[in-house]
Amino acid sequence: MLSPADNELLCRVEGDAPMGQMLRDSFWVPAVRGARLERDGAPMRLRFFGEDFVAFRSTDGRVGFFDEACPHRRASLALGRNEGNGVRCIFHGWKIDVSGKVVEMPNEHRDPERMCAKVKVNHYPVREAAGMVWVYLGSRAEPPPMQDFEFMNLPEGHVRILSVDVPCNWVTSVEASLDDAHVGILHAAFMDILKQRRPVEDIAGPPAYEVDLQPYGFQATVLRALPEGRSIASSTHFAMPWFGFVSTGSPDAPGFTRRALHVAIPIDDYNYRQVFFSYDVHSPISKMFGCVEEYDQDNFAPPLGGPETYWGQDRELMKQGHFSGFPMNLTSEDTAIQMSQGAIPDRTHEALCSSDKAIGFMRQILIQAARDHQAGKVPLGASGDVDWGRIRSRMTFVEPGENWRDNLAAAPNLRVPAVALT
Ligand code: FES
Ligand SMILES: [Fe+2]
Repeated sequence: MLSPADNELLCRVEGDAPMGQMLRDSFWVPAVRGARLERDGAPMRLRFFGEDFVAFRSTDGRVGFFDEACPHRRASLALGRNEGNGVRCIFHGWKIDVSGKVVEMPNEHRDPERMCAKVKVNHYPVREAAGMVWVYLGSRAEPPPMQDFEFMNLPEGHVRILSVDVPCNWVTSVEASLDDAHVGILHAAFMDILKQRRPVEDIAGPPAYEVDLQPYGFQATVLRALPEGRSIASSTHFAMPWFGFVSTGSPDAPGFTRRALHVAIPIDDYNYRQVFFSYDVHSPISKMFGCVEEYDQDNFAPPLGGPETYWGQDRELMKQGHFSGFPMNLTSEDTAIQMSQGAIPDRTHEALCSSDKAIGFMRQILIQAARDHQAGKVPLGASGDVDWGRIRSRMTFVEPGENWRDNLAAAPNLRVPAVALT
């Protein structure tokens, strides 16, 4: 349960909202799959933190990332022509190169060169890693270092990306990625798929949570009792500011080197972009975890409606045995539930229980980070000295008398050699 003020502080990202300012100033944003931007292809509209941007890939392959509005009279540059290493506004033909410099101004007869040099275009630093275009939208003259996660420098084909835009606040989605208790319930219809990446014992039963704070956020270990005094421990990680390393891998399952993380990036106060990275440090992967078929990678679980249609729920299917009535995939179950919680859930009226422990920590960490940033301090995870490459979920069985912490630290998942991060 949060106070109304803290809920606002946690969720709001637009304009001067302290959370949005902290996120923008301190972290790079995974904005769009790089393959969606073709050389000299159509510029793409993108919206983050309530502001509209345009991205395009120029003739030489570099990516430009600007405010969407043309600096002249604010026509959309997404309507522009992408040609000759720059984007040309189709209204009066101003052309802007990738670095944000106006290079042509065909409607200025007096001194076009001087006018070109005077115009300021809001443009943003971009980098490409793990198949994504990452952008820095903050105000620091020198952007912070990018988070060098394990998956950032894998060979091509080792990382798969799925994303979808969802009409609700981003924090609801970060919460879902840390909420292991819902997996065996909401997603009961997809147990066969879940079993491919986790032993079923790990999903059933009420979880006990242990949270260990870390320089990047925390490790949340879920402990579930098994018969005969055994138990199973699996760790998930919250990494600032929006990454959830979900529990994958089993000591007994082949392919346990495959891992997944979930990202929820604010589009504005009432919409977020959900991105799943699935990756394997050893081998290429052809399909996302848990996908029985190929989805539209960039819209893989489109919302099926609002409250008037019960978010698309299929009661007939439920009569036939489907648990949730959302058959498309696991994520369609998640997004329907998230929308049903409200565009910004009222966290002043909740009855949290023990399985919400990790969510409570995440909220407090984010709120503190926003306050720290407001006070001129460096928020958690933004100091540049975090070893992001070591964050990964692990899973282990624990025999009676054994200590889950020892076992988890020695779990086979950990013995996968780290990929060189340069
Ligand atoms: S509005 Fe873009 S060139 Fe005039
Ligand atoms: Fe879920």
